[in-house]
Amino acid sequence: MAKAHLAPSSCTTWLGMALAAAGGACGGGTRPAASPEALAVDQADLAPGASTASATWTPNAFGASLTVRADGGPLTDPSSPFFQSLGTNGRSCSSCHLASAGMTITPGAMQRLFARTGGTDPVFRPNDGATSPLADVSTVRARRQAYALLLARALIRVGIKLPDNAEFELVAVDDPYGYASAKELSLFRRPLPAANLAFLSAVMWDGRETFKDPNQPTGFATIHFDLADQANSATQGHAQAPSPISDAQREAILGFETQVYTAQGWDLMAGRLDAAGGQGGPWALSRQPFHFGINDTLGNDPAGDPFDPVAMTLYAGWAGARGARAAIARGQALFDSRTFDITGVGGLNDDLGIPVLRGTCTTCHDAPNAGDHSVPLPLRLGLDAPAPAGGVLDVSGLPVYLLRNLATGETVQTTDPGRALITGKWKDVGRFKGPVLRGLAARAPYFHNGSAATLEDAVRFYDTRFAIGLTDDEVADLVAFLAAL
Ligand code: HEC
Ligand code: HEC
Repeated sequence: MAKAHLAPSSCTTWLGMALAAAGGACGGGTRPAASPEALAVDQADLAPGASTASATWTPNAFGASLTVRADGGPLTDPSSPFFQSLGTNGRSCSSCHLASAGMTITPGAMQRLFARTGGTDPVFRPNDGATSPLADVSTVRARRQAYALLLARALIRVGIKLPDNAEFELVAVDDPYGYASAKELSLFRRPLPAANLAFLSAVMWDGRETFKDPNQPTGFATIHFDLADQANSATQGHAQAPSPISDAQREAILGFETQVYTAQGWDLMAGRLDAAGGQGGPWALSRQPFHFGINDTLGNDPAGDPFDPVAMTLYAGWAGARGARAAIARGQALFDSRTFDITGVGGLNDDLGIPVLRGTCTTCHDAPNAGDHSVPLPLRLGLDAPAPAGGVLDVSGLPVYLLRNLATGETVQTTDPGRALITGKWKDVGRFKGPVLRGLAARAPYFHNGSAATLEDAVRFYDTRFAIGLTDDEVADLVAFLAAL
């Protein structure tokens, strides 16, 4: 490891924590005593004049992520409804969106919480924390089993019924937990981060909180509108509130979550990611321009600018660097420029009528330095298959649904019909949005179903799926870059 030239020699505070978390030796094996919440935040991490409560460092396998509140307010704020129990099961938004886990939840955080509370923390609720709402949760042992997917892959059960207008029927269900049916399919999904929301064009994996609005120039409602609706649905769903929350509560939730930015801030080998010309970390991200359709792949940017595949530029300043910084810059160049044949992607090749599209990672991850897609574009990479390409992904324990097209009789097996459960359309089976690709190191596992345990697994999946032909060194560079987002 080439970290010695950049890592400070002391083994205190968050540096030591990060090294320990990464399994590295720290000052001859000293175990740092600080908890992640107590890691030191200094002035460089804050908005001018803000208190240290507005930022937090969290160690991860690649270094540490920095989560900040851009308006300087506290990241944990009991006066905000984001942190209040507004329903009936004790949950708040922060049950599943933790600042110490990149504003989502991780298996490690869930396992620690389970150990500390015997599986009684409000995140452990049968309605959607368990593999079935009817699961036995009467003993610690039973709870460990009921919350198995939450503990192993930080998956939440999203229950959605087969829409009445569906172009397909549910022929068979193989649900290991004996609950799912056409009345309510069990879909196990990763909580998307409640952070970096300024860059969203679609809300939720299946875009179910993305609304059309003919009065808007984009044809879509504003993200503000979508998120206000989402805040209510989340309270009524996850927190089991019997009636809708008030407009004031919705606005207060938005007032909090839209100020939160999270990104990797410090890399074990490259050091601070906003140093020496690097534009990593949440502060540069909070200043990153975005508008609906920016850098659109199909040339529909309302600003009139043509698509530029070089969508990631935050580490351009490190192109001439050495060592770990050079690896991150090389990974960025691969992400922007390495071309491969995109084939068989539902929502792209079929809808455009282009069976083979020569593209890059940024063909789909086009929003500059954010990495999501700048217009709603649900896509099927094939991650919903009972056995996704390449064999590196883990979809064990997920129910499998057999769907049949009512018109053609065609059948398909899927662990999650995705967008099709919202639109009822056969062509939308297995389609999901591409999420914002910042703060990745803080939030393994990846993809909607948590099937990629590590960033390397995610890259290996793409390498096989699109026959990219990456060398081991290129995989390592891409991983170094993704981990520095
Ligand atoms: C029980 C866990 C849980 C709770 C509690 C919860 N969420 Fe979520 N959140 C999720 C999951 C799971 C998803 C993704 C679900 C999907 O896309 O189908 C999600 C998605 C989101 C998104 C979408 C982000 C994006 O990129 O599209 C936002 C915003 C969000 N939650 C905010 C909130 C707010 C606000 C609250 C409180 C009112 C809340 N969540 C409560 C689990 C939770
Ligand atoms: C054909 C479009 C497309 C291409 C090309 C593409 N992606 Fe993706 N990417 C997506 C979609 C869609 C998702 C979400 C899929 C899901 O979870 O169902 C995604 C998800 C991801 C995730 C997981 C994010 C998370 O929060 O879990 C990573 C990491 C990622 N992509 C990296 C890459 C890299 C690296 C490349 C280039 C080698 C690439 N992508 C190329 C569409 C694409």
